[in-house]
Amino acid sequence: MGTSTVPACAVVLAAGEGTRMKSPLPKVLHRAGGRTLVDWVLGALKEAGIGRIIAVVGFRREAVIAELEAHHPDVEIAVQEEQLGTGHAVGSALPLVGEDVSTIGVFSGDTPLLSVEIVRALSRQHHGRGAAATLLTAEVTDPSGYGRIVRDADGLVEYIVEEADAGPDELMIREINAGAYIFEREALTESLGILRSDNAQGEYYLTDTVAYLRSQGLTVAAFMAAGNTAEVLGINTIEQLMQVEVLLSERGRVK
Ligand code: UD1
Ligand code: MG
Repeated sequence: MGTSTVPACAVVLAAGEGTRMKSPLPKVLHRAGGRTLVDWVLGALKEAGIGRIIAVVGFRREAVIAELEAHHPDVEIAVQEEQLGTGHAVGSALPLVGEDVSTIGVFSGDTPLLSVEIVRALSRQHHGRGAAATLLTAEVTDPSGYGRIVRDADGLVEYIVEEADAGPDELMIREINAGAYIFEREALTESLGILRSDNAQGEYYLTDTVAYLRSQGLTVAAFMAAGNTAEVLGINTIEQLMQVEVLLSERGRVK
């Protein structure tokens, strides 16, 4: 499988506190299968062929930087001083990205089962569709906690609504946002510029870029991972961390 369509550059979000973990450790430093969550993500992105990675750090950043220096010294560091949301976090990395980069991947540091195959498939979809942005989605039995994917009458992604902001009909949607994206850099920069924080969490949501890009007449594509795959699992709670631990030991991947 060629790796030519993967973006040259990716941003990995690792600045959040992880309040729902109820632990003093920054969320991405929790371990599953003997490795930190962020280490799993970085490993998959590198194996997929992404040559340049920028990690956004913030909450207890000295600890996160120490982990990166120990296992991924080639990863560049961007600092998000205040954790104002995922859109704001990506914005903190943009000055480092530079204008020579045309396509950027954006990934969460809390999805340890993200696979090389999915990163490549997402990238192929993005190029194949000539999209301004392409996101990874999955249809799951229990969508709770995730952003929901709202599609229009033609089946195209229209917007993403976060659980905290969703109405009853939106909450019924079982197609979720996995938190992995490919963006054209110019479309990303422009759409981050219009984000507002007037939502239930008072944050600048990266997910709001989708509706904006659509409103500009641009294509937002989606790659739907196979039904109920664990690869999209985002770790927000200790229960989810334990779930990943079990899945990894079943696969015999525990080191
Ligand atoms: C996010 C998505 C949601 C998606 C889910 C997938 C948004 C608004 N929501 O929700 O649609 O279904 O991921 O797992 O993007 N982070 C920062 N700085 C911040 C905030 C977060 O770096 O200011 C980092 C966190 O460390 C984490 C990642 O971004 O690695 C995602 O943040 P998190 O708070 O877990 O978002 P979710 O609520 O899971
Ligand atoms: Mg999360």
